Amino acid sequence: MIQNDTVISVNGLEKSYKNLKVLKKVDFSVKRGSIFALLGSNGAGKTTTIKILSTLAKADKGSVKICGFDVLKQADKVRREISLTGQYAAVDEVLTGRENLQLIGKLHHIHNVDKKANELLEKFKLLDAADRPASTYSGGMRRRLDIAMGLIGNPSVIFLDEPTTGLDPQSRIAMWNIIKELSASGITVLLTTQYLEEAEQLADEIAILNEGKIVAKGTVKELKKLLPYGHIELRFGDENGIKLACDLLSEYNVSLDEKNSTISIVTDGSIKQMADILNKLEKSNLLVLELSQIKPTLEDVFLNIIGEN
Ligand SMILES: Nc1ncnc2c1ncn2[C@@H]1O[C@H](COP(=O)(O)OP(=O)(O)OP(=O)(O)O)[C@@H](O)[C@H]1O
Ligand SMILES: [Mg+2]
Repeated sequence: MIQNDTVISVNGLEKSYKNLKVLKKVDFSVKRGSIFALLGSNGAGKTTTIKILSTLAKADKGSVKICGFDVLKQADKVRREISLTGQYAAVDEVLTGRENLQLIGKLHHIHNVDKKANELLEKFKLLDAADRPASTYSGGMRRRLDIAMGLIGNPSVIFLDEPTTGLDPQSRIAMWNIIKELSASGITVLLTTQYLEEAEQLADEIAILNEGKIVAKGTVKELKKLLPYGHIELRFGDENGIKLACDLLSEYNVSLDEKNSTISIVTDGSIKQMADILNKLEKSNLLVLELSQIKPTLEDVFLNIIGEN
């Protein structure tokens, strides 16, 4: 039994393959029932981290506890708590969806395997395709079956390594909904992704992994605060408006988009600056057709942080 709310705790994780240092002191923790996204580009060390957390690989240094159990010393207990859905789906192509589920159910010594398989096929919208070989499934169906197979043992933690890579936009949104439902049902989800938008949509907390190091972590809101500035965009009726505005606001960092009759002004996000800009425009009687405040995206944060490291 663990007393607190932390389900996954990772401390000082290091891993090398021969001379290649893949993980360099990785630390993070994940709260019960939350969705945690490990965000990073190709080769950042995401799959390596997931492999260590799910007992499939050994770290050189550091410790990992899942539900209070040590992944090295209590690997069996950890395995009972987790489910891993890999970057490359583990579905048996020759078997039907139903048979895949039944097989895993038997491995887990589930009592009423057929009933459980049916429940999962229904939940993951695979009933119609249940008795076709998995080789005939689309990428999205295969991923859903893979996750369903992972749920047979009633895990409390689920690892999803790039759950939406290669899926079309519609299947991606369906997968996001599945992941949200898993979390709502109390399962702790740790997923990896290369998509900022995915992390932004799903994650309660995000850790940005770059070349084996966590370079930033926090909620989407917290990460965005790392870039306090934003832009104000103003649209004018004609070229004269743009020119006049540029003169008026010459003390600011202004960029032009003449094609769309807009200018973009970098601000520190303060009301004071906003008021000053509006004041100057108001005094000159300049007609502003549209004003919008553009906040930094997670992508800005990501690129800024990666650029600094
Ligand atoms: N078994 C291995 N032997 C040698 N090098 C490895 C091994 N597994 C991974 N690596 C290397 O470790 C680094 C991190 O790999 P990893 O698979 O963890 O990255 P990733 O973040 O999952 O990338 P991707 O987004 O491409 O899946 C890469 O440089 C990779 O080539
Ligand atoms: Mg990977």
